[in-house]
Order: sequence, then C-alpha cells, then structure tokens
Amino acid sequence: MKFFADTAEIAAIQELAATGLLDGVTTNPSLIAKSGRDFKEVTKEICAIVDGPVSAEVVALDHETMMKEAEVLRKIADNVCIKVPLTIDGLKTCKKLTGDGTMVNVTLCFSATQALLAAKAGATFVSPFVGRHDDNGFDGMQLIGDIKLIYENYGFKTEILVASVRHGIHVLQAAQIGADVMTAPPSVIKGLFKHVLTEKGIEGFLADWAKTGQSI
Ligand code: E4P
Repeated sequence: MKFFADTAEIAAIQELAATGLLDGVTTNPSLIAKSGRDFKEVTKEICAIVDGPVSAEVVALDHETMMKEAEVLRKIADNVCIKVPLTIDGLKTCKKLTGDGTMVNVTLCFSATQALLAAKAGATFVSPFVGRHDDNGFDGMQLIGDIKLIYENYGFKTEILVASVRHGIHVLQAAQIGADVMTAPPSVIKGLFKHVLTEKGIEGFLADWAKTGQSI
C-alpha cells in the first residue's frame, strides 16, 4: 500500500520523505489555507520534494472553470495530480483530463456508486473519506470494501486512495482490505513507527550493552 501525506506543511513532508517511505502527497484548499502559503509556491515546493503524485485541488464548481484551473495547476510540475470533487462537473473534468493523460484524484467520495462513477470517468485515484464517513454514523471501512469489490468485478484501474484517515486502525484496515493508497496527516504516519515495546526493548538492550563497556 502506498503512503501519501495529507498536508501542505513543507517541514513535515521533508521529514517523511527522508524515510524513503513516502509515495506522494495530498493537499486540499483547507490544508493550503492552514499552511498560510501561496498555493503555487507551496505546491511547487512539495512537488520538488516527492517524486510521486501531489494532489492539488480545483475550487471551481463548473466544468469550464475547472478545466482552466486544472491548466494552471498542472503547469506547476509534472507530478501534479488534479483533484476534482465528485460532482457531475468534476467527473466531466476528470474524463477530459485523464483522456489527455493527466492524473486525476476524484475527492469527497462517500458512496460505492460514486466510486463506480469515478472509475467510469477514468479517475487515476478515487478518495473515499473514511474518517468523515465514520463521524457521520457510517462505516468508512465498509465503504472501502464495497469499492474494492466493485472495482475487482469490472477490472477498473482506478486506485482506491483511502482518505480522511484518523488513526493507525484505519491504516491497518485499509491494508487488510487491500486498498492501493492511504493518505494521512504526518502525525498519524509517524505514529505507525512507534510501539511501547519497541522503545522498552531498545532501552533494555542499551542498558545491557553499556555494561559491556564495548563500542561498535
Ligand atoms: C484527502 O485527500 C483529504 O485531503 C483529506 O484526507 C481530508 O481529511 P479530513 O477529513 O481529516 O479533513
């Protein structure tokens, strides 16, 4: 499963990229606003840090303006992936852009039939928001399982990008289902490295090693 960082914070992306385990980045208008940065500048910087896809989202609601915004966004770097909302105009834009060979991430997906539409529109990625789905009394991971089944039934190439990930259990379940990608805040990704017994084990080994008086 590929790991994307869901952030527009440069320092956090650099830190994760340095592990060699970061496959891409997702941004959205709220994350850009949170960064306090100019969207073009920050997107360009992110694209230079990671080789993989960097999702940059359109903000228009109509197809024509979405196409114009996508043109601006895709000129920023070769690895920009245009993010469009799961609406009729968003999917029209997706179909057009992927037909031209541009990567598209269809975002704000909350049902398996929406995901079916995204795949029919040729989306590179579909982003079901599991955390927000859970928050509203639905089962986010059931949604991922349903999408996986439908995509396998028809051999769709669209990758399932599990989004709105809130904790390690979401990551575990996404991997168990066989999702292609998950995107999570840097704090969640960093949390995956940690285990109290790993820390305790290191502490014990180092204490015993110190008693030997040796060095490597
Ligand atoms: C995905 O691409 C979105 O940016 C993101 O996962 C939304 O997550 P949130 O529900 O935590 O805002």
